[in-house]
Amino acid sequence: MDAIRRLAALLAAGFLWTAPAQADNDPQKSPEYCGACHQRIYQEWKSSAMGSDLANPIVKQLYLGLNGRNQPDGFGYQGVFPGHNGDCADCHVPTLVINERRAGRGDVNLATAIDQKLDHGISCQFFHTLADVRIRRNADGRYERRIFERVTLENGERKFGPRLSRHKGPQSRAHETVASPLLKDAKLCGTCHLNQEEKVLAISTYQDWKALYDAGATNDTCQSCHMPLHPAPVEVATGFPPREAVRSHAFPGARDAAMLQRAVDLTLDARVDGGELIVTTRVENVGAAHPVPGSGPIRNVILKIDATDAKGRPLAFVGDPKLVLPPLAGTGNPQTKQRDAQDWAGLPGRLYSKVLKGINPKTGQLQVGVPGFVADEVAFDTTLKPGQPDVAAFRFALPPATDGGDVVDVRARLVYRWTYKPMADRKLWTIDDRPMREEHRQLRLASTTAAAR
Ligand code: HEC
Ligand code: HEC
Ligand code: HEC
Ligand code: HEC
Repeated sequence: MDAIRRLAALLAAGFLWTAPAQADNDPQKSPEYCGACHQRIYQEWKSSAMGSDLANPIVKQLYLGLNGRNQPDGFGYQGVFPGHNGDCADCHVPTLVINERRAGRGDVNLATAIDQKLDHGISCQFFHTLADVRIRRNADGRYERRIFERVTLENGERKFGPRLSRHKGPQSRAHETVASPLLKDAKLCGTCHLNQEEKVLAISTYQDWKALYDAGATNDTCQSCHMPLHPAPVEVATGFPPREAVRSHAFPGARDAAMLQRAVDLTLDARVDGGELIVTTRVENVGAAHPVPGSGPIRNVILKIDATDAKGRPLAFVGDPKLVLPPLAGTGNPQTKQRDAQDWAGLPGRLYSKVLKGINPKTGQLQVGVPGFVADEVAFDTTLKPGQPDVAAFRFALPPATDGGDVVDVRARLVYRWTYKPMADRKLWTIDDRPMREEHRQLRLASTTAAAR
């Protein structure tokens, strides 16, 4: 009897293996359903990167290998590994992946899941029904990578919250609430902000933070910085008395101007020495308990130095060649080689980034500045670690005082780019230079100084 049942189960599993993913789009699990009562929290989440992930065209384009106009360009997970679904769906449509695994089926196609609305994405229901999170390493030192290895989801109606609801009114019977310490634990975020690829740890934010936290270098958690407390009591559910100590669900990060500002300090010093202009910069991560930019591959922060004379002409850079920006800062249109205002390679400055490189298995080409799925190793890591300021001295030639050299303008700009300029050019994506810090100095060189030099 048992053997027959097992055989039937095996047959069913074999049959289902090829069947399309079953939708996990029960309306009672949708963020809109929760939002009917939790209106404010829903609006916050909806405005966040996680709440808009399924509508983010970049995600599908990097999965399928499409450019910004949705034309195939081969550069994306399925462009490089045709016919494979991979694990991309794990953190982008986690509930669907877990259910498919439970049903004994294979990997989920992320693009199909998005197009056919098979899942609610990084949803309220996912976070608030998590019964357990396990971040573990295998014998080979790599993290267990799959979402179904990392979490246990409850199927039930009960929602886990940071504390038990004080309100037992009729509406709160919409669902049972359970207090769970997990909601305050950073490992909740580590579920996805720790992406172990075959060869490299592509996203290491959780590990980076944990090392600092364990060493006592920070008391903050992901939640304390990225889910700041509302300054005044707010309603958790519409119509219920406002509550103290409610955290924002807008998840401010690198899309938030204030967060980018608070992340770093920039100091600038400019002086004339030995007939040259010496510009000294100091950049320090003072606001993030992980590297800046965060460890998502392709993210980059650029310090750009502009030194000009009284007529606005750039001064010639005569300093250390290591202090000019590398090709990843932008080299121009791949076809026409025309440079635009965002192409900064060769100009004085610093690129802060964890740069991955790898041989593209499809083309056999070595590529630098790639996403995790084609990475073999870290090419270099210049991200700003807390407590490790980056100090640099840029040297410029001074023009004769009679030719505009009597006044010198120095500007240091620190900007954030969500991807490298060359990759944006190639994929026809647009990048904005999100301002982080800016410093400006003007030197009036007395004619005697000018004459002396
Ligand atoms: C019909 C209304 C309604 C719906 C729909 C609803 N909730 Fe609630 N929920 C409430 C009420 C009322 C409370 C208690 C509010 C309070 O304590 O101020 C609550 C409390 C919670 C809490 C506990 C917060 C805490 O720590 O005290 C969580 C978590 C939660 N809801 C999650 C969800 C999720 C996730 C969904 C969607 C799957 C959802 N809720 C759908 C009405 C609703
Ligand atoms: C372990 C969880 C995990 C897996 C697996 C995963 N991602 Fe992500 N993905 C993330 C997280 C977390 C971020 C945000 C990273 C950050 O900003 O630091 C992200 C960000 C992205 C972004 C950037 C979106 C933007 O607008 O900047 C794209 C595109 C993306 N993922 C595509 C993929 C693809 C394609 C795969 C499969 C090769 C994949 N992801 C696998 C967790 C994951
Ligand atoms: C189920 C997977 C998952 C979990 C769990 C998760 N995240 Fe994310 N998170 C993502 C993905 C994927 C993105 C990128 C979304 C995009 O850009 O389309 C992201 C983006 C973010 C961003 C925005 C980054 C930016 O570019 O501004 C912040 C901040 C963030 N997450 C914080 C958190 C915090 C804090 C937690 C824990 C409370 C958490 N995340 C838990 C998957 C997850
Ligand atoms: C001390 C405050 C602090 C803590 C703790 C912290 N962050 Fe951040 N985080 C920041 C700041 C400030 C930024 C903006 C600068 C940046 O983008 O690197 C940021 C940026 C991010 C980004 C966007 C990364 C990028 O550059 O694209 C993600 C994703 C993120 N944090 C996730 C997390 C996660 C997950 C944790 C916990 C493991 C965490 N953070 C802990 C302050 C913090």
